[in-house]
Amino acid sequence: MAPSDLGNVTAIIGTQWGDEGKGKLVDILAPRYDWIVRATGGANAGHTIYVNEKKFVFHQIPSGALQMNTKMIIGNGCVINIPSLAEEIELLKKEGVTLDGRLFISDRVHVVCDYHKKIDILQEEMKGGKKIGTTGRGIGPGYSDKINRMGVRLGEILNWESFESHYRNNLALLQKIYPGLEHDAEAELGAFKQHREALMPYIADTAYLLHTEMVAGKKILLEGANATMLDIDHGTYPFVTSSNASIGGIITGSGMPPRKIDSIIGILKAYTTRVGAGPFPSELNDETGEYLRTKGGEFGSTTGRPRRCGWLDTVVAKYACMLNGITHINLTKLDVLTGLPTLRIVTGYKFNGTTLESFPADLNKLTPENGFEPEYTDLPGWTEALDNVTEFEQLPVNAQNYVKKLEEIIGLPMTYIGVGYNRNQLITK
Ligand code: GDP
Ligand code: IMO
Ligand code: MG
Repeated sequence: MAPSDLGNVTAIIGTQWGDEGKGKLVDILAPRYDWIVRATGGANAGHTIYVNEKKFVFHQIPSGALQMNTKMIIGNGCVINIPSLAEEIELLKKEGVTLDGRLFISDRVHVVCDYHKKIDILQEEMKGGKKIGTTGRGIGPGYSDKINRMGVRLGEILNWESFESHYRNNLALLQKIYPGLEHDAEAELGAFKQHREALMPYIADTAYLLHTEMVAGKKILLEGANATMLDIDHGTYPFVTSSNASIGGIITGSGMPPRKIDSIIGILKAYTTRVGAGPFPSELNDETGEYLRTKGGEFGSTTGRPRRCGWLDTVVAKYACMLNGITHINLTKLDVLTGLPTLRIVTGYKFNGTTLESFPADLNKLTPENGFEPEYTDLPGWTEALDNVTEFEQLPVNAQNYVKKLEEIIGLPMTYIGVGYNRNQLITK
């Protein structure tokens, strides 16, 4: 499928463990769309965009904000932290980016409070050596309240008395569950009250709005957050986030009917990174891993933590393409591989001598001590910088061969290839 086949409704999804470069493509494609919609996750996401060397990191606001003709939705599947959202809005305003009349936040979005962050940290402490390595943004406890049918939704803030009472009940219940949980409710409610007036105009029934716009023929880009391998169902559970980051979550979290989605772009980094704990079959704990981290600037956009680095894993990529029904791939950060003499690609998983057919649920099957072994294909690298390459044919032959090999293994076209973090550093193949 060529970019011209993207159609009216496109979804963008991370195919690995996050930070593949979703934000950059959303920003580049945004002018083609009328609406950019976030449907999952919260402030755990960090989507980076560079405009003339100026860095913007989006956590809760869709990454289309800088393209002034697009409108944005924070869909019902997201969880939001009100003060951080207000801060993000304020930061953009300082850069001359106004969101008035452009941003719509679902009244069904769940509110992550500061006590959720405390519980997040508390739970991590209680896990001792089995920490997930969360972003500490209260995501797990926020989504838990939603699933447990005790969460506070943003729409409730329109009626302050009811919001306040629900907030207090929620906190009281959690304090029964976590007896050590201390929290200054007055201070937090005070902060909410302070942001309330400014937030109210953004609150809307976004699923209905989206349908109205879709019926009117408007173009919609659904911006995935987190990634397939962090999906609560399909990822490396329990080392995952607390929502469905893959296509199902995007559908539920926006209200978009599945058959209306025309194209699904999988974002695939040319190597693999992961923040936080959990299995990582192609991880490199050596100087090559360090090379990727330094050259790729692999430090968390949300927490600043160093990202773990490793080779590209096509078992993961194929699994993500299968689950999401990916139609196009954006291979990102190919430029980072420049200078490595040999490039390794994971092509299969062996467990006690038997080939695993797909990504296993049982994480014990991924530990070398238990008999796990990844299978690799090696390809020669290249030394030329790719920063100024604009056409696929201008890439060094070995870089072209690396891309072609991935297309052959994964069975999908690498429609977009990233060769730098700037807007213009994207090859369309
Ligand atoms: P996201 O969470 O998927 O949006 O990704 P992040 O923003 O967390 O991390 C991706 C990082 O890689 C950001 O700093 C981007 O600016 C950067 N990036 C994206 N595409 C490319 C690329 O093709 N080459 C290089 N060198 N950097 C890229
Ligand atoms: P973007 O959208 C990378 C990871 C955390 C942790 C696990 C659970 O920028 O790609 P959580 O705070 O969600 O409970 O943490 O999930 N994680 C991400 N890692 N990029 C992300 O988002 C992530 N969102 C969550 O590091 O391992
Ligand atoms: Mg990120």
